[in-house]
Amino acid sequence: MTRADEYAPEHPLSMRLLRERHAALRTRTTTGNEDTNGRQRALGKRTARERLELLLDDGSFLEIDRYRRHQAAGPKLDDQRPHTDGVVVGSGLLDGRQVFVYAQDFTIFGGSLGAAHAAKIHKVMDLALATGSPIIGLNDSGGARIQEGVMSLDGYGGIFRRHVEASGVIPQISVVLGPCAGGAAYSPALADFTFIVRDTSKMYLTGPDVVEAVSGERVSHEELGGADVHGGVSGVATFVYDDEVTCLEEVRQLVSLLPSNNLESPPAKAARGAVGDVRPRLAEIVPVAPNQPYDMRLVVAELVDDGEFLELHEGWAANVVCALARIDGQVTGLVGNQPIVLAGVLDVPAAQKAARFVRFCDAFGIPLVTLVDVPGFLPGTEQERAGIIRHGAKLLYAYCEATVPRVQVIVRKAYGGAYIVMDSRSIGTDLSLAWPTNEIAVMGAEGAVNVLFRKELAAAADPAGLRAELIADYVARFVHPYYAAERGLVDDVIDPVHTRAVVARSLSMLREKRKQRPRRKHGNMPQ
Ligand code: HXC
Repeated sequence: MTRADEYAPEHPLSMRLLRERHAALRTRTTTGNEDTNGRQRALGKRTARERLELLLDDGSFLEIDRYRRHQAAGPKLDDQRPHTDGVVVGSGLLDGRQVFVYAQDFTIFGGSLGAAHAAKIHKVMDLALATGSPIIGLNDSGGARIQEGVMSLDGYGGIFRRHVEASGVIPQISVVLGPCAGGAAYSPALADFTFIVRDTSKMYLTGPDVVEAVSGERVSHEELGGADVHGGVSGVATFVYDDEVTCLEEVRQLVSLLPSNNLESPPAKAARGAVGDVRPRLAEIVPVAPNQPYDMRLVVAELVDDGEFLELHEGWAANVVCALARIDGQVTGLVGNQPIVLAGVLDVPAAQKAARFVRFCDAFGIPLVTLVDVPGFLPGTEQERAGIIRHGAKLLYAYCEATVPRVQVIVRKAYGGAYIVMDSRSIGTDLSLAWPTNEIAVMGAEGAVNVLFRKELAAAADPAGLRAELIADYVARFVHPYYAAERGLVDDVIDPVHTRAVVARSLSMLREKRKQRPRRKHGNMPQ
């Protein structure tokens, strides 16, 4: 591929000749190798450039560093110095808004990352941060380029440092479209959102061969780091899709809901007349009986414009729902307990998922609506040993820290610590709204009566009768929202059918909210 005279001018020199040679070279850098492109397609994958065409607005891609090639030496490197060095980088538009992109090219050295490859990624990450534009990485790589040794590791470090520097300043999106091995896996972990495609994508720190050598465990690529593992078990992937085309379309969808940077407002659409909107379905979806399940996503769909929302981590920690949507044209983050999964309890993954989402929304000025129907934290040794205290504290921390407009809607029950954590008044929500179906208390009636009247019940001639009496008294005292409303912990008790209207009005009331925190280097979030 490399010839000493590759760029040498022919004589006589003319602009026509130079332009012809330039055009031929340029074509060579963009078409790639038919054999390896074919192998890529046979694996069910598109080439890096085809992916960028799918992702970006037509004809908007401005490529940078297409002539870059490695300057290293070593086996398989000495005789091969392909242009691009296995990654296509530049800027493009998504619905007319600028983003920066890099797309790894598996057909060149397995998309592995050497010094030149890394420097190209550094360059677009720097430009994205300097111009306040989202960065989107399409990963398809065998990890650190083995022959470039420590230079590859140094390249990764530079990427990770830039991810952290850009965190909370520009949205960062990682899309896994092939292997994403070793150090490469930390980009998806550091990004705000990670997309992955079934069958073709695998993500792990150490592959099956190393796993077997170290521990004797035999495991397939799919079992170790396939899309469903990361979408449903590890929680590394935010979105999982069956094919690349849908995946890249959804990246566009996500970006349409995000501001380009933390100084910009989220992209609003014209108001949809939500104020005054009556939603009769809301009075039917949520059963009055506290233990009867229903799908919180039906509530979300009634609250948001056109019933459309983008749910994060659909397959992981599904006992809490996190979604981005628009309410009255304004981008809003919704967090809700999900009664159809584990009765909507908060556990370790749910707390982690919701905490990260709350922090993302806060960093990018996206108001939060929290829909509460929570029986409490999941009890048990497994949860305690897994650190539910510190993970639950993360969610608490995230809400306490959030300065964006915050509205809490208690749609049914809210018990104990979980009530506090789900954006209660005490931790700083701006407005707390409740439905008449409410039960806001330290615990449910049965549990409360057992604790408070254990001795009396044991000594009673008719324990069942006394229990029923005590439960009825507890229900009359606490199982309604007015106890909290009388004490100002709920700002209004509303008819469920008016929820969309009241939430929309509340968010518009809070739009200009400004809150300053005391100066500090940074807080110390629970680990
Ligand atoms: C150099 C690599 C490479 C790598 C693949 N290739 N990975 N070259 N460095 N890391 C090359 C192959 O030699 C091959 O070249 C071509 O890319 C295609 O690879 P295949 O193995 O033929 O493809 P496939 O069978 O699809 O397997 C893909 C793969 C496998 C699963 C990714 O290549 C693999 O296991 N690679 C190594 C993964 C790994 O352990 N990486 C290092 C991680 S350590 P030819 O010339 O034959 O076509 C790491 C440390 C960083 O990243 C830590 C930072 C915190």
